[in-house]
Amino acid sequence: MGSNMGRKRSGANLVTKVVSGDSFWRPEFCRIEPITEPCSLVIFGASGDLTKRKLIPALYNLACNKLTPKRFFILGVGRTEMSDEEFRKMLAVAMNVRSMTKTDRGIWEKFARGLYYCRLDYDDTGDYKTLSQRLYALERKNDLKRNRIFYLATPPGIYKTIINNLGSCGLSEEEDGRVRIVIEKPFGKDLTTARQLNEEVHRYFKEEQVFRIDHYLGKETVQDILMFRFANTIFEPIWNRRYIDHVQITAAETLGVENRAGYYEQAGVLRDMFQNHMFQLLSLMAMEPPVVFEADDVRDEKVKVFKSMKSIPLDRLEDFIVLGQYGRGEIEGREVPGYQSEPGVAKGSRTPTFAAMKFFIDNWRWKGVPFYLRSVKRMHQRLTEIVIMFKSVPHLMFHEVMGDEIGPNVIVLRIQPNEGIQLIFQVKLPGSKVCLRSVMMDFTYRDFYQEASLDAYERVLLDCMLGDHMLFVREDGVVCTWSTLTPVLEAIESRKGRRHPIRRYRAGSWGPQAADRLLERDGNKWIAIS
Ligand code: BG6
Repeated sequence: MGSNMGRKRSGANLVTKVVSGDSFWRPEFCRIEPITEPCSLVIFGASGDLTKRKLIPALYNLACNKLTPKRFFILGVGRTEMSDEEFRKMLAVAMNVRSMTKTDRGIWEKFARGLYYCRLDYDDTGDYKTLSQRLYALERKNDLKRNRIFYLATPPGIYKTIINNLGSCGLSEEEDGRVRIVIEKPFGKDLTTARQLNEEVHRYFKEEQVFRIDHYLGKETVQDILMFRFANTIFEPIWNRRYIDHVQITAAETLGVENRAGYYEQAGVLRDMFQNHMFQLLSLMAMEPPVVFEADDVRDEKVKVFKSMKSIPLDRLEDFIVLGQYGRGEIEGREVPGYQSEPGVAKGSRTPTFAAMKFFIDNWRWKGVPFYLRSVKRMHQRLTEIVIMFKSVPHLMFHEVMGDEIGPNVIVLRIQPNEGIQLIFQVKLPGSKVCLRSVMMDFTYRDFYQEASLDAYERVLLDCMLGDHMLFVREDGVVCTWSTLTPVLEAIESRKGRRHPIRRYRAGSWGPQAADRLLERDGNKWIAIS
């Protein structure tokens, strides 16, 4: 969550008027399909953080917008002993229902009547039989067909156990309804484990039943990358190596590891952000236009990008990757501890919280264009953006006055916050005969979209209910991204040979200076426009 985009409740179906028209501007209406098919959602890990912070708020917002099916219930599953009523109370506290308006509290109360809980020991097959009976009973009570979604919101170490037990108890079978399984990231921790997990899943579930979540794909601005590129004529002809000098993709957060050290110590920034979110942004930025805007056509094109990513030369890692870990510092005027003083982090930990990497995509469109990817925890500012730096003009007729100072054109796709798009170009300033300066054209979503927009989790949950795979990662996508990253991870984590440096940076800074040198070697520098 955490989008700054205006989100208000609309009436029944979300219908957003985007541009109100005169004779030139074409009015556009966007319709989000209401769900017609009743279904149930079973959340494994129902007392966990993800359920409280993301899933229930997203489902509640969908309910507020009348986007959940008319007949729908949520069955929370977890190890903790709890009654239905206790589960509802726990979620009401997490949602801060007491401070809601009367209307919102009314919606919550109705929503909460569809919340149930079932205790389950993940290893115990007997408990899955109990779960199955409970599901049948609830389906009968709510007059539902057997359309079921199983959402794995547990620590990833338990995925395999849950999948096997669901399968062996017959819960993956689609008899008189649909069965879907949603799997949160991380999907494996390297190529081997990702392949194994795919095999486990496919023992019981067909690929079309599987929804691998990458919540970045649900962000409006991330979805807009393809619209911006392929619904306009003027950008696509210059979207290639002839005109683009390089691309920078930054995902920076002010947050540290928070209370997730148990997971993060095993993952680090490369598994946590690169294998999924960063590579997805890269693929949307670089892919070819699919013939039709259908899930598999889009995913085919993304996979082609992943396959074209050039392997990083392991004997020259330092020319391609810089890693760092935050030390103490200050964020928004507040002292914050260094990573190694965070609860649950091992002293002397080498887990990176910063990475900057350079990639090349070996195909006709992109050969020789560097893509710099950077992800930072504890930066002074939250910002995710894609900066597209165009080449300088080929002949400088203003050289006499300007020297080599004319800045290139730049397009910035501001993913979050302050979502929008900027174009930087040169204009003549009034006054002296030759007087150029860079100016910016700025489109900010907030100025246009005051009505309803869906948060990333709302979008992906809704699409899963609709059975639309567009914003989910396919099996081959996961395999390809791990294929690129795994040799790098092995080289970095290898206990043998010279260890790749993990550079300390102050919390609240831009990350280690070595990351600047990564670009300076190519005559470039990081740009942060927002
Ligand atoms: C998650 C990562 O997938 O994405 C977190 O596990 C990270 O470490 C988060 O903080 C960032 O998401 P967003 O939507 O806040 O940019």
